[in-house]
Amino acid sequence: MKTQVLPITPESVALAARLLQQGELVALPTETVYGIAADARNGDAVKKIFEAKGRPQDNPLIVHICGMEMLNGIVSEVPERAKKLAAAFWPGPLTMVMPRGPEVSDVTCAGLDTVGVRMPSHPVVQQVIKASGVAFAAPSANLSGKPSPTNAPDTLADMDGRLPLILDGGESNVGVESTVVAVTGEHPMILRPGYVTKELMEAVLGEEVLVSPAILEKLKDGEVARSPGMKYKHYAPKAQVTILRGDFAKYKEFIKQHTEPGVWALCFDGEGAQLGVPFIEYGKNHDGVTQAHHLFTALRDLDKHGAQVVYARCPEQDGVSMAVYNRLFRAAAFRVVEL
Ligand code: TXA
Ligand code: MG
Repeated sequence: MKTQVLPITPESVALAARLLQQGELVALPTETVYGIAADARNGDAVKKIFEAKGRPQDNPLIVHICGMEMLNGIVSEVPERAKKLAAAFWPGPLTMVMPRGPEVSDVTCAGLDTVGVRMPSHPVVQQVIKASGVAFAAPSANLSGKPSPTNAPDTLADMDGRLPLILDGGESNVGVESTVVAVTGEHPMILRPGYVTKELMEAVLGEEVLVSPAILEKLKDGEVARSPGMKYKHYAPKAQVTILRGDFAKYKEFIKQHTEPGVWALCFDGEGAQLGVPFIEYGKNHDGVTQAHHLFTALRDLDKHGAQVVYARCPEQDGVSMAVYNRLFRAAAFRVVEL
């Protein structure tokens, strides 16, 4: 299959809409990362997403909508908490897991009785949904296990020949995938951290928002993740990544003892030149927003440079940094060294 990459024009948006209506795949930008879209109601179309990504069948997809009225049929009920969170954070990088409605394909939900729904703020997504009338299922546009792409060239690198169209809308702003929160149950619970933080949601809801144990710790044998995606090692570059927890002085000391060829540092802005090994900087220290924006590109760039062993500076674990830590922890296959 030939993969076209087109800039955003009325014609390319119309083509994307037509492909979705015909049950084909389209890769497109969102404010978080690039996604691969297919009609969430059409099981045969959604199956093509799993094939293109090599994604395990038991990992459900998020349904993307562009207005509250589109929830009809996709969810069976909109819980009060969901209404409050939607008013505060939609359109935006928040996915809510709700009771599933009759119109979503089994393939989209991987057979679960819940469905994750989000209303993205990216204008291209909104245009494509409006033009097609299609609520689409869309995972991140990477091959399963690789870092999510945040631009069209990285999407093409993974998806060339696997789908007919990539819409090129430039860099994704946020850089990590949406926050996933379960809104039913006694307490709301974050299943995947993102740009919409625990602290922000607690301020809106006036109640505690729990954090799933799978987010910041490795699951113990036999433990079940409520978000199937969290059980996989994920976001991994080819290099072996290790997170070094400790301040910059200790980090620098550690790197000085490990200057073998193939070693790279993944550090914060302004630090690399002091290390004596090749490096990539992925945002400002203590600033989860800039780290989120750069992390996945940094992981892909390490591969492009042929890095073998990567020692990464450790992000914080609150606010947007929780999302950065969660992704890096998986990229590192849960390897963390205390300095
Ligand atoms: O920002 C995003 O959310 C991007 C863009 C393209 O919108 N999409 C994305 O999708 O990251 P994906 O498929 O890569 O990740 C979806 C995550 C997985 O961890 C999955 O297990 C979880 O959401 N998820 C989806 N539906 C769920 C459900 N019903 N219950 C629990 N977890 C669910
Ligand atoms: Mg993904």
